[in-house]
Amino acid sequence: MRRDGPPKEGRVSASAIHIPRRLRAPAPGWTTTADVIVVGSGIAGLTTALRLRRRVDRVLLVTKTVLDEGSTAWAQGGIAAVMSPDDSPEEHIHDTLVAGVGLCDVDAVRALVNEGPDAVWDLIAIGADFDRGETGKIALTREGGHHRDRILHAGGDATGREISRALIAALDRVRDDPGIEVIEHALVVDLLSDDDGRVSGVTLHVIGEGQVDGVGAAQARAVVLATGGLGQIYASTTNPAVATGDGMAAALRAGAELTDLEFVQFHPTVLYLGEGSTGQQPLISEAVRGEGAFLVDADGTRFMKGRHPLADLAPRDVVSRAIIERMRATGTDHVFLDCRHLGASFLEQRFPSIVERCRELGFDPATELLPVAPAQHYASGGVRTDLLGRTSLEGLYACGETSCTGVHGANRLASNSLLEGLVFARRIADDLTRRLAAGELPEPTPVSPAPAPSDQPALVRGKRRLAVQRAMTAGAGSVRSRSSLETTLARLGELAGADDGKTGSPKSWETTNLVHLGQALTLAASLREETRGGHVREDFPERDDANFLHHTVIRREADGHLTVTVDSVPAANLVGLGLDETHPAPDTRTHPKEQHERLP
Ligand code: SIN
Repeated sequence: MRRDGPPKEGRVSASAIHIPRRLRAPAPGWTTTADVIVVGSGIAGLTTALRLRRRVDRVLLVTKTVLDEGSTAWAQGGIAAVMSPDDSPEEHIHDTLVAGVGLCDVDAVRALVNEGPDAVWDLIAIGADFDRGETGKIALTREGGHHRDRILHAGGDATGREISRALIAALDRVRDDPGIEVIEHALVVDLLSDDDGRVSGVTLHVIGEGQVDGVGAAQARAVVLATGGLGQIYASTTNPAVATGDGMAAALRAGAELTDLEFVQFHPTVLYLGEGSTGQQPLISEAVRGEGAFLVDADGTRFMKGRHPLADLAPRDVVSRAIIERMRATGTDHVFLDCRHLGASFLEQRFPSIVERCRELGFDPATELLPVAPAQHYASGGVRTDLLGRTSLEGLYACGETSCTGVHGANRLASNSLLEGLVFARRIADDLTRRLAAGELPEPTPVSPAPAPSDQPALVRGKRRLAVQRAMTAGAGSVRSRSSLETTLARLGELAGADDGKTGSPKSWETTNLVHLGQALTLAASLREETRGGHVREDFPERDDANFLHHTVIRREADGHLTVTVDSVPAANLVGLGLDETHPAPDTRTHPKEQHERLP
């Protein structure tokens, strides 16, 4: 789509990109019903399902592989919440808004921060065991962009794993309850809609036994998509293999609004394993820098000093950009993280999983510099929701990384993602409870899904997924330009058209999801001719508030074409954020060894 000047508020522009309504899949061979279907079993999906249990008659939780396979279990650093008397909601809100570079929804951020501590206490009440200091108080640490110690962690660097364990244990305790059913190995294929356009269920591919096997239709009064992110769209990512954007892509095909897709977070410190290393890469948590590690280039220069008031703990987009610039300036493909001064015993106790993984791969953080480079980490955009998690389609909710609640703006603040999944899952469950009780969401009328169209790719021949990942990384990755984005769009168009004429398979559906999301993301990125947060344009290296203080909203129209609308953000959003400040903010960080035991 070519434009004349910056996009105009509210104007709908049609693109040449065409996306089918459905993936090519066999007709459903089985059906089931529920009041609410929750798709995904990370913190967002599990919290929604558990909170809905006993409030509605029947909740169906479906997950693509097994319950603990998604991104939540991989989260290292922690979950941010105001838990210390030295901290305040206003400060957490401020740090979140600054990281989001003017594009956060302030009300969503307030909800996140104000409801965060209660939600975390509830997590503790169901058994989540966060690390504590010697006096038994919860230990709090710091990550990039935070001016206070407010990150709870568990098992040192295994926070997500502990949260996932606690939620799954809570689910196991109620497995006998007929009001909640779990289906594993169930890939969401597409959304079902009724004649009025309301979402009325999903089609699923289940690797199961007996009646529920193969493609089926699950119908419900509401669907909650909590399928995580789209990291596998890039050649290297910290996301697990299951992160193929299935929920986001199904929502896009069904006509839901997706927004802020161009804002992709690249984590600055991912262990660099060489150019050929693709797929999920080992993350070196920002909490390692929170405890005092720092970045150096090949000459040993600390290049973050003087670059930002928070130096190595600047927001992620700032650090990633600085690393990329340094790599270019020095002609290298990585920089280094120096943790050696923290000492073996501290590192082993505080970051056991990271140390173990590094050593397995031949790097000892206690004695050597770690080679690191940015890799895809988080989708700040997603399926657009309001403050209750409702999307633009009646009956459809989205939560966690799948959603765009407005909390993250152009760049997510570290450790706000688990918190967002937790807080907004509760909001969704409460909204659904109320609406279902009020009869607002009708029973779905049985529908047979329309036959899948024949003009779309089905089975992946050869290396189609790798081709998508390469095209996205080369042209719509950490640094973009008009020509790189055009090349990527053209390549994705070819890959979208590749069709070997066979019936689809789960792998091919996942890859087609990546193609559809790649097209939408690249389209959004091509329209934003500025650099902001997770969107870096080398041809437009400055932030341009006059023309781009807005959200890019993408939607598939009934004729299959993607359209783009611009939704402005009030300029007042920037006031008081000091986004151009060059003077260091006071650093009130306590030394790691003094450690934080500051609970009310
Ligand atoms: C990290 O530990 O650096 C990742 C945490 C996050 O993405 O919020």
